[in-house]
Amino acid sequence: MCGIVGILGKTPVATNLVDALRRLEYRGYDSAGIATVESGTLVRRRAEGKLRNLEKRLLTEPLEGHTGIGHTRWATHGRPTERNAHPHMTAEVSVVHNGIIENFRELRADLEAKGHTFDSDTDTEAVVHLITHELHAGKSPVEAVRAALQHLQGAFALGIIFAGEDDLMIAARQGSPLAIGHGTGEMYLGSDAIALAPFTDVITYLEEGDWAVMHRSGAEIFDKDGVRVDRPSVKSVASSLLVDKGNHRHFMAKEIHEQPEVISHTLANYMDMVSGSVRFPELGIDLSKINRVTISACGTAYYAGLVAKYWIEKVARVPVEIDVASEMRYREAPLPADGLAVFVSQSGETADTLATLRYCKANGQRIASIVNVRTSTIARESHAVLPTLAGPEIGVASTKAFTCQLSVLACLAIAIGRARGSINAAQEIELVKGLTELPRHIAGLIRNEQPFIAIAQELSKARDVLYLGRGTSYPIALEGALKLKEISYIHAEGYAAGELKHGPIALIDENVPVIVVAPEDDLFDKTISNMQEVAARGGQIILISDAPAEKISCKLAAHIHMPKVSAFTTPLLYAIPTQLIAYHTAVVMGTDVDQPRNLAKSVTVE
Ligand code: AGP
Repeated sequence: MCGIVGILGKTPVATNLVDALRRLEYRGYDSAGIATVESGTLVRRRAEGKLRNLEKRLLTEPLEGHTGIGHTRWATHGRPTERNAHPHMTAEVSVVHNGIIENFRELRADLEAKGHTFDSDTDTEAVVHLITHELHAGKSPVEAVRAALQHLQGAFALGIIFAGEDDLMIAARQGSPLAIGHGTGEMYLGSDAIALAPFTDVITYLEEGDWAVMHRSGAEIFDKDGVRVDRPSVKSVASSLLVDKGNHRHFMAKEIHEQPEVISHTLANYMDMVSGSVRFPELGIDLSKINRVTISACGTAYYAGLVAKYWIEKVARVPVEIDVASEMRYREAPLPADGLAVFVSQSGETADTLATLRYCKANGQRIASIVNVRTSTIARESHAVLPTLAGPEIGVASTKAFTCQLSVLACLAIAIGRARGSINAAQEIELVKGLTELPRHIAGLIRNEQPFIAIAQELSKARDVLYLGRGTSYPIALEGALKLKEISYIHAEGYAAGELKHGPIALIDENVPVIVVAPEDDLFDKTISNMQEVAARGGQIILISDAPAEKISCKLAAHIHMPKVSAFTTPLLYAIPTQLIAYHTAVVMGTDVDQPRNLAKSVTVE
């Protein structure tokens, strides 16, 4: 994940900018840079690799300005070179950016046609020239940014300074977090409170869609419609904790809200965003020749694998065998010669998953693991490691790790499909485009939690809850049920919707909420029939769907309206409402959301 810092200082800021960037090193990066305003002119220093390379540069070419921005870059668009390092700038404006500008190609083409010259491969530079163009049109810096933000599509955070403006910094948040720090005659900007801890513990977190005009005297914050808003300042504990809850009540809430950012970074690790294709690491096996994929995991990670079964079989036309690790480790499953075995684990320490990995390795499988902890035992015992870039996941109930696991598995399915020729280049670009649009849609979903709070009030009265889904929504129904039961302690079961008539329908009466995960895909009409069977027996249906009301021919207790996305990506998007429903129900129930009873974050014993 990239890191953003900014300081409106009373003394030269270069050293403090680098110190703040150092506190963001945990996010991972491959280049860094800072820019300041000196006697009205924008001046910049950048370096590849670690911060020490930037510090060396500053020793010989110091910066003196009292207004500056800094950035640690985790390369998404363009290689990790100095040329692509942030800040990006023109003579008039300098920008640091975290996230993905989806429509950067169109913006760049339009700006080049208007005479702008680009010198990097990054999406960020499109923002720089867009603001510059508005400035050339006579707008003030604030109006130029306001206008530019209307043209940007994607999940991003921005820090912006201007030539000739020693007491101005503008920040914008759309999907990637940003915090403003309040000092004495100074103001600060950071990707999180950790970066600002040396300067202040009085923090204002920008909300989704906010942008802020900062001066040394304070900050004016506007919402996405440009309306002035007040956001509370909170005391941050980041100075004592490497990971803090931000302005959230629980780690689980913070981690749900981090998903646009961490999914962007995970996807970018497996894609070439410029060409819009998948760039998958070498697994040490010829993907064009594998005749079966074996997947094994536990809990939520297993449900990610179950979604991948549908994806790999449909996109790559390769049969997938999947089983929970606690079963697979003992049933002595016969395995194909030269097969690929994929293990999914947030912690990388789950005992059953590790034992199954060892069984598969001993039986000649090529082992690839999808883990959130690269130094974990499962990672160390794998032939190939495919990291999720979710950052530390503290809440016992897995959320951002799950959607990052799905992000990696989606890219794996596409990579195998391309290697086997079951999808062509155009189909690959279409699938990748759907994935890169997800962070924006997720950011839109988590912007308004009221519908989920209302549903939680009703669910909290239930004794049993049923989740239904078909196709790739079936594993999401299973995962939604697990989320609810593990943090609210309400019994919940996920079922394939087509299985309803084979028993579960006996459960249905007016006291049983039924949550139906149903994007308007080719299975939707069949799921509608199941919903009618439920409604006919008084079941209270909560529908999660992008289908319009006229397509829904039965009574609903609630309808979570979803944005239209590609069928391939619905599991990632539809996981979000199930996470929020579980979270808010647990809050109503008053359970320990981050540390539910009887559970551990990593099950390292059988
Ligand atoms: C997820 O919400 C649960 N906490 C649990 O099912 C978890 O997914 C499972 O224990 C696997 O853990 P791992 O991903 O670290 O292997």
